[in-house]
Amino acid sequence: MVWVPGVGEIPLSLSTIKGRRKSITVKRYGIVSQALLKYKPGDRIFLRGPYGTGFTLTEERNLIIGGGSGMAALRPLINDKSFGMVSAKTGDELLFTHEFKENSIMIMTDDGSSGLKGFPSDYLESVDIDQFARIYACGPELMLKALYHKLKDSRPDAEFSMERIMKCGIGICDSCSIDGRQICVDGPVVRVGEINPDGEFGHQKLDISGRRIEIHL
Ligand code: FES
Repeated sequence: MVWVPGVGEIPLSLSTIKGRRKSITVKRYGIVSQALLKYKPGDRIFLRGPYGTGFTLTEERNLIIGGGSGMAALRPLINDKSFGMVSAKTGDELLFTHEFKENSIMIMTDDGSSGLKGFPSDYLESVDIDQFARIYACGPELMLKALYHKLKDSRPDAEFSMERIMKCGIGICDSCSIDGRQICVDGPVVRVGEINPDGEFGHQKLDISGRRIEIHL
């Protein structure tokens, strides 16, 4: 949880984990991220955590499926055997594509402005998913839901990092729950086989004031 005093606090994943060297990647979104983007070297932020579950690590070949800023959470998992399916709305929003080896990446955009047009799920059949020791995904719920349907039978061990409004981060406020599972404690990383396809995933979430709202995919 990253706290900007006087402004607010947001959950962010580490996008660099190299010994003591760590980083976060911030996208302009709400008031906290806008405040963070005004920071200058030497300004101070406050952190608490880490909280919740993490990805199951492997040194073997893994498949990394990222959408938009979701790539920030996946970046530390990239190794020299990784294959990436990296997507974004437009070519300008693609992140960390250069971290994959040549010929070990597929790029796709919603508008076709870079790489293939469409979502990673549209092209998953062109990749032999059995060759990967682990499959990781993070991105918009629209993307995860489509991937869920492609992976639930063949790779229930695939891991998704889920997103919900987080306030306390420690299992008290329930702002982050999906089907009674608190994403700050029982997630954010969940296995595909643990997701209830008939539940809230891809359908409903709580907004900032705690109202249950429909997710329009
Ligand atoms: S953020 Fe409060 S219970 Fe998860």
